[in-house]
Amino acid sequence: ERKEITTIEEIKLLVDLFYDKVRRDPLLADIFNGAIKENWPLHLEKMYRFWQTVLLQEHTYHGSPFAPHAQLPVKAEHFDRWKQLFFETIDDNFSGEKAQEAKFRATKMAEMFQLKIAYIQQN
Ligand code: HEM
Repeated sequence: ERKEITTIEEIKLLVDLFYDKVRRDPLLADIFNGAIKENWPLHLEKMYRFWQTVLLQEHTYHGSPFAPHAQLPVKAEHFDRWKQLFFETIDDNFSGEKAQEAKFRATKMAEMFQLKIAYIQQN
């Protein structure tokens, strides 16, 4: 059954399930694997800390979330797919207030990243 997101255990489950989908997705796999290469364990660790900070207010993530996205070859269709996979992962596995917040925060971050990338690509 669907779990509430209350501890780092659920955060890890969410991140693992989501990036399993990403790595198998025909549109996104090559972009992620091309950038991350053999560093998936490191990327996943970083993403555990990122979502732990955002959803549980346990401040284990320090960094610049946008920086690694600045030069990626991504357009609206990639962000649409990213959001679709993220929402599926949440809705199939989690429920409750933090689950809803995760979708809201992901949507806001995706919007901000897209605006920044569009601006960079113009200049
Ligand atoms: C890092 C791809 C959307 C949050 C990364 C990295 C890649 C990537 C390649 C660098 C991994 C590494 O070298 O360690 C993408 C693509 C996206 C996308 C292709 C959309 C199509 C998002 C969204 C969020 C997000 C919407 C926010 C909810 C992060 C964070 C990091 C990261 C927090 C780590 C930043 C750091 O280095 O501290 N992403 N991403 N990404 N991404 Fe994304």
